[in-house]
Amino acid sequence: MKIAIFGGTGDLGRGLAINFAAAGHEILVGSRSQERADSAAAGLKEALPSGNFIPLENVEAANGAEMAIVSIPHEGIEATIPPMADALAGKVVVSVANALRFGKSGAIAEQDVPHGSCAHHIQELAPEAKVVVAYNNLPAAALQNQESLGADVLVCGKSKEARQAVIELTNSIPGTRALDAGPLANALIIEGMTAVIIQLNKRYGGEASLEISGLEEAPARPA
Ligand SMILES: NC(=O)c1ccc[n+]([C@@H]2O[C@H](COP(=O)([O-])OP(=O)(O)OC[C@H]3O[C@@H](n4cnc5c(N)ncnc54)[C@H](OP(=O)(O)O)[C@@H]3O)[C@@H](O)[C@H]2O)c1
Repeated sequence: MKIAIFGGTGDLGRGLAINFAAAGHEILVGSRSQERADSAAAGLKEALPSGNFIPLENVEAANGAEMAIVSIPHEGIEATIPPMADALAGKVVVSVANALRFGKSGAIAEQDVPHGSCAHHIQELAPEAKVVVAYNNLPAAALQNQESLGADVLVCGKSKEARQAVIELTNSIPGTRALDAGPLANALIIEGMTAVIIQLNKRYGGEASLEISGLEEAPARPA
């Protein structure tokens, strides 16, 4: 599948890109600048010579993609999404963006996010896209190193079919289990949880992620 990653030059974008490329997907590495896309794609190719990384400006990446991932800081959503709204119509669009603020006491979840969450903001700006929230709580560095994460990925979205597509894609990230967590309405909780994870990392060291226990009918998390 052709997967566009807007902000594919960043930490999380490159982490997702390398895992999805390792699973055989073609990655359209998106950026606001062709030069930065070129440089990120070259770095990814060096890290994974078998990977298929195509550097493009974000809108071009949206045009060529079958699925897209919005991996930019939340402040950039308002300017980034409208020019690609038509290109995203009918496509699954994954939002990994978290609206966080960093102050003296560390990371805090924004309470006043436009339209209720980053994912809802994207849905508002690209109304025909099938927006799904996922990967918000995964650690970028471990993804870049293709470590087995031992993590659950909570997947929320209005369309069950879109959630299922993201759940299947997630199987390509080592040591992760994707869980269908229902409608997009709870996106803000998943996004805000990242502030708590950052606080835990600061307090105890390391890079935490989520593990859900007690589910009787969920598949086992791969080792
Ligand atoms: N880092 C993590 O561990 C992690 C984990 C889970 C979720 N997240 C979320 O994932 C998103 C990306 O995180 P990140 O750490 O990869 O961020 P980042 O490195 O700061 O930014 C990612 C890319 O976004 C683009 N960008 C920066 N400012 C922008 C703006 N105002 N408008 C449009 N594009 C902009 C830049 O690409 P160009 O300059 O090339 O366009 C940049 O390389 C964030 O919303 C974050 O909350 C991060």
